[in-house]
Amino acid sequence: MIIAVDGPAASGKGTIARALAAHYHLPLLDTGLLYRAVGVSVALAGGDPDDPQDAERACAFPDSLLDDPALRSEEAGPLASRVSRHPGVRAALLDRQRAFADQPGGAVLDGRDIGTVIAPHADAKLYVTASVAVRAQRRHAELPGTTLEAIAADIEARDARDMGRADAPLMQATDADLLDTSDLSIGAAVQSAIALVDARL
Ligand code: C5P
Repeated sequence: MIIAVDGPAASGKGTIARALAAHYHLPLLDTGLLYRAVGVSVALAGGDPDDPQDAERACAFPDSLLDDPALRSEEAGPLASRVSRHPGVRAALLDRQRAFADQPGGAVLDGRDIGTVIAPHADAKLYVTASVAVRAQRRHAELPGTTLEAIAADIEARDARDMGRADAPLMQATDADLLDTSDLSIGAAVQSAIALVDARL
């Protein structure tokens, strides 16, 4: 069983993907971490995340980087979003994600293009979203030092970049179930996600 979970930043997709992996006893790949690793590697090397060659060189990052807490930092998200626009970067990370999806027994993957590009054959696909206002409030609760307006502006900029890129833009797959978590608690969102997946099995 392959479960694809896609959606924009702070939609709740990461939490939902973790809960689904635990519920169905499946391994989980947070594919955003791969792009974050490329973005952080470019920055560490003093390169330019908007330069395709610098970004492609950084795809050879060591596996140990995936455990680095720096990848979860606020700075790493926009860096990831910038390097993820380059087709060469997406191509370099493709096999690894497909191999994870197609391992015996199945898997849960969360990202932006799992249901559309990485695993179009997934058994269940969720497109998790929430309003910009709600997503900004969630981030603000984690980052009280930053203003709500600044966080909302960052989220809108990241959405525009992820949805507007030519290669594998963020979008709902035609056969994905939409889960809007704007008005849902975490528990209710997870229950809805399990119900949607169960209905596809
Ligand atoms: O999900 P996360 O916030 O960690 O993703 C960081 C960035 O990586 C996203 O904004 C997006 O640009 C990129 N990404 C992507 N494709 C994926 C996962 C993440 O382009 N499958």
